Amino acid sequence: MRFFIDTANLEQIAEAMEMGIIDGVTTNPSLMAKEGISGEANILNHYKTIAGMVDGGDVSAEVISTDFEGMIKEGEQFAALADNIVIKIPMIKEGLKALNYFAMNGIKTNCTLIFSTGQALLAANAGADYVSPFIGRVDDTGWDGMALIQDIADMFKVQDIMTEVLAASIRNPLHIIQSAQLGADVATCPLKSIEALLYHPLTDKGLAKFLADAEKLK
Ligand code: E4P
Repeated sequence: MRFFIDTANLEQIAEAMEMGIIDGVTTNPSLMAKEGISGEANILNHYKTIAGMVDGGDVSAEVISTDFEGMIKEGEQFAALADNIVIKIPMIKEGLKALNYFAMNGIKTNCTLIFSTGQALLAANAGADYVSPFIGRVDDTGWDGMALIQDIADMFKVQDIMTEVLAASIRNPLHIIQSAQLGADVATCPLKSIEALLYHPLTDKGLAKFLADAEKLK
């Protein structure tokens, strides 16, 4: 399973790139707003900067239009920024039309706000390259976000569907581990969830002991 980082924060993207653990970036309007990015020119410039930071890895840029024409206009503007931009389209009827349009025109897409296997199947049939089921937001409603990942991954395997399952709305390291175990192709994670995989108290304790003993070797 590949890792994307789920942020529009340039320092966090740079840090994750230095660790050599990520293959791409996902953003959304909320993450862009969190970084204080506003205005068309600044938004386009920010996506271009991110696209240049990830060695050709996929960078999802989300449209904010909800009509077909608007999505196409925004998506084409995003796609012109760099070859590794993926157009992120919401799972609505107009979104399906936009997924189909971009597939026909050789532009990669990520269908976002997926909360059911039926939605995932529709997005795949419309030509989405990625579907993004939102684990954390399903958990928040008292349902099982991981079951959604499992159901979609199983269905795509049985049907031999090439659309990739991009586990999103990751809130903790267990979401990442279980997504990998259940067959997600990618997990898009906040940096803090990735770092939570890294730390273990026994590693820290063991390293402290080795360093203390190393003093005796001097
Ligand atoms: C990424 O593609 C999604 O937009 C993101 O993971 C949503 O995460 P949230 O539910 O924590 O806002």
